[in-house]
This record gives sequence, C-alpha cells and structure tokens, in this order.
Amino acid sequence: MSAMQSAQKPTRFAVIGSPIAHSKSPQIHEKFAQQTKRTLTYEAIEVLPADLATFIQAFFESGGAGLNVTLPHKEAVFALAEVSSSRAQLARAANTLSLDSEGRLRADNTDGAGLLGDLEQNHGVTLKGKRLLMLGAGGATRGVLAAVADLPETERPSNVTVANRTVAKAQALTEDFKGALGVAACGYEVAADSSFDIIINGTSASLGGELPPLSPALIAPNCCCYDMMYGSETTAFQSWAREHGARLAIDGLGMLVGQAAESFFQWHGVRPSTAALIDQLRSK
Ligand code: ATR
Repeated sequence: MSAMQSAQKPTRFAVIGSPIAHSKSPQIHEKFAQQTKRTLTYEAIEVLPADLATFIQAFFESGGAGLNVTLPHKEAVFALAEVSSSRAQLARAANTLSLDSEGRLRADNTDGAGLLGDLEQNHGVTLKGKRLLMLGAGGATRGVLAAVADLPETERPSNVTVANRTVAKAQALTEDFKGALGVAACGYEVAADSSFDIIINGTSASLGGELPPLSPALIAPNCCCYDMMYGSETTAFQSWAREHGARLAIDGLGMLVGQAAESFFQWHGVRPSTAALIDQLRSK
C-alpha cells in the first residue's frame, strides 16, 4: 500500500472495527492526551471488512497519524502492512498502525505488552521464573505469547504451557513460536497434572459466560488468574479462580487500558500511567 505523509504535523487518531460504537478507546486516548499535555483527536469509526484497505490508505493520505484496530480486522491489517514489529509477526495480528519514517504502513501488536504492563504495574506480578498457563490457542493467546517472547531471557517464565480444547491448534502454535519461545501444548485434562503460578484465560468461552473444563489442581499457592475479557459483572473465570483459592482474580479492563498506553507510547514516545483511569472506568 502506498501512503503519503502529510506536510502538517499529524494529530488525528482513530480506532476502527465492526462493531465499534461502544469502544472505550476514544475516552482512554483523550485522557492520556490530557495527562501528557498533547493535542489530538481520536474517533471510533465503523469500518466493514470490504472497505478496510481503502479506508486505511485514505486515512493516512489525509494526514491521519495512527490507527488502533479491533475485531474483526486484526489479522487483515497485519497482512496489509508493509512492515511489522516482531511481536505482530509472532501474533500474526496487529492492533496498532502508523507510518514509518519512509511512509510505509507499519503494524504493531500492543495487546500482550498491555496485559504484561497491567500485571506488573497495577498488580505487582512479573512473569520471571513463574509457571505460566495460557487457556486457549487463538489470537488472544498468540498476542500475549508474542509479548512474552519479547521479554529478555532473564525476565521470562520458567515454562509456558498452552492448553486448548482442540489440542492440534495448541500444537500448531508451539510450532509457530519455535525459536522465539518454548511452549508446551496440551488439552485441559493433561494440564491439570501440573499446577501454575499464573493462569491467563485467552479463550472466547467467557464471552458467553462459559469456562473450559478446568481442574482446581491447576491453581498453585499464590496463583494469579487473569481473564482477558471484562464486563460489568465478574467473569466466569474470575469466579472459578476465587472459588478455588487463587490469590488474584483479575479481569481484562486493565489490559484494555494497557494496550492503549502501549499504542500511545508507540505514537507519542511517552508511556501514560494507567491505574487512575482503570479505577475511573470501573466505577462508571
Ligand atoms: P481469538 O482470536 O479471540 O482468540 P479464536 O482464534 O476463535 O479467537 O480462538 C478462540 C479460542 O477460544 C480457541 O482457543 C477456542 O478453542 P478451540 O480452538 O478448541 O475452538 C476457545 N474456545 C471458544 N469457546 C470455547 C469453549 N466453550 N470451551 C473451551 N474453549 C473455547
């Protein structure tokens, strides 16, 4: 895709997806802009798959500075981009677009870094030396593991397991991450032969209030459970974690704000703080 850079300093941002009306991203980026004293506009724009490539080209040609991308376009924009970060390549999906210094469309994936940032900054949890279990083997899990692979060796978990209903899909993920991150693949029953310090739910099951078949034996003492989903109610995975004695049962609101903070950092070179905004969004 060819894209021209505007002569004027660009300050226009947006999130694109379908549906998009309920996106919190405009509110989040406007708060970050206030916090860091920047002037920008940030809209939520409904874009259908058939219009995606033309929309992106027109947005940047007209001086747009950056786009966030949500469902269902994360894989498609990765394929459209001319250059991409290593974490977008491992995830095979992107949520952040910009133009690089040569005017090429560049894709990045800040979802996993957003989750890790939320864990560390807002919950005091790092992955270093921990046994990490990822539930699910789709795009959500790929995004997190791409960020884990980006960590220096010394900061990484001691081992990483992906459990999935369809074991072949977890095995395919292991293959794709070969050389970047060692990942063991299995089904939910096999995973329960071990216990874990951190369990992250990356399945879409909790959208419908469902849970994979999880054994309480998965939860090690002091275990931190993190659901990548969030809603106005406690998620099914959080309830399961609390019921079985996990030390922490966190939902994905902090990840949403965290990925926005990482995108903001990519665009503006400053990383905003997230804790107060997460509290504010939760109390609404
Ligand atoms: P995403 O990109 O959001 O991760 P996805 O690629 O469709 O979405 O992956 C969804 C994940 O949720 C998969 O790991 C899926 O398991 P399968 O690969 O076996 O389909 C998992 N999932 C969805 N509904 C589930 C359910 N009811 N129980 C267990 N796992 C479920």
